Amino acid sequence: MAMFFSTRLLFFSIIIPLLISITLYQLIDSFDPAPLPPDSLFSSPTSIPPLLNDKFLTGAEFIGVGLLNNPEDIAYHKESGLIYTGCVDGWVKRVSVHDSANDSVVEDWVNTGGRPLGIAFGIHGEVIVADADKGLLNISGDGKKTELLTDEAEGVRLKLTDAVTVADNGVLYFTDASYKYDIHQFIFDFLEGKPHGRLISFDPTTRVTRVLLRDLYFANGISISPDQTHLVFCETIKRRCSKYYISEERVEVLIQGLPGFPDNIRYDGDGHYWIALISEVTTPWKLSMKYPFLRKLISMAAKYGVELLFMKNAGVLQVDLDGNPIALYHDHPFSHITSGVKIGNHLYCGSLLHSYITRLDLLKYPAQKKL
Ligand SMILES: *[C@@H]1O[C@H](CO)[C@@H](O)[C@H](O)[C@H]1NC(C)=O
Ligand SMILES: *[C@@H]1O[C@H](CO)[C@@H](O)[C@H](O)[C@H]1NC(C)=O
Repeated sequence: MAMFFSTRLLFFSIIIPLLISITLYQLIDSFDPAPLPPDSLFSSPTSIPPLLNDKFLTGAEFIGVGLLNNPEDIAYHKESGLIYTGCVDGWVKRVSVHDSANDSVVEDWVNTGGRPLGIAFGIHGEVIVADADKGLLNISGDGKKTELLTDEAEGVRLKLTDAVTVADNGVLYFTDASYKYDIHQFIFDFLEGKPHGRLISFDPTTRVTRVLLRDLYFANGISISPDQTHLVFCETIKRRCSKYYISEERVEVLIQGLPGFPDNIRYDGDGHYWIALISEVTTPWKLSMKYPFLRKLISMAAKYGVELLFMKNAGVLQVDLDGNPIALYHDHPFSHITSGVKIGNHLYCGSLLHSYITRLDLLKYPAQKKL
């Protein structure tokens, strides 16, 4: 090979054209990534919990294989024993939960015609859906009626309605991850590195949609605190979850410098939040977070469908109500884990990639003290 492929040929046939196209691209393309705030670049050792299970897949079971296409969020309806999850084909599906994962039955329940992501139960037996394409939806408990509650705030359309939580008084709190990029382009929101996310409330009695926080870095998972005083929410790009005190309108950090990119955050009814981490901060991510120019090159590849930011080592982090990390369940080949919900002794995980729900028996495969 080397004999036929001279350095000169390589230089003129590959390197020069490549440099020219990159330069042209720089001039033509208007995509303009911003430097990220310094606090989004560091990883905090204090976000690493004392207990670890780094072999999640060893004990994992798979539910509804082939029947659940990218089930992003999971909501457990205690009374019926059913899991509700939103799939990429627009279906909100219901999954029965059994001792044996193989006994689970998957039912197509309601198709929103959009992309259902976050799911929560309303106080009148309805199902509230954060639909990335449509906005905030109210599906009646019998599945017969779907109503659009809101699809804009402050005159700006919701572009990526992401997650929702319901307060005991019936008020809905939800996130719009980005007002600029939709679900199919969300990677460009990461690459641009600007805060397009909002934290929003919808009051069903007044039907008023109100922006509580703006300029969030990909506002993702949200959950109301058990004492109803605040919300916890995650900003994926900043690898941070925060508290928002509702009556004081005050923000406080819950946990920052996370070991991965946070997605949904769910309360387990027992003193803990479970934060899904879609990927660890791989070296390409680390470098590109630091250098906007690299993000521009990566966006160029992404426009041609080439994925350069690899995802790996996804998992779920258990924290207490003050954000102190307790346990992390993860695995190197695992990726795109978007939600973690504890039901009984099992941790159920949704995903943006897989065609099933993954679950782990936490008693059989507990996180343990690091050696
Ligand atoms: C469930 O099904 C899978 C695949 O068919 C099989 O490998 C596994 O042994 C089954 N598990 C149980 C508990 O029956
Ligand atoms: C959702 O719709 C049902 C009627 O189908 C209604 O009873 C309920 O109050 C609505 N919920 C919200 C949050 O608007």
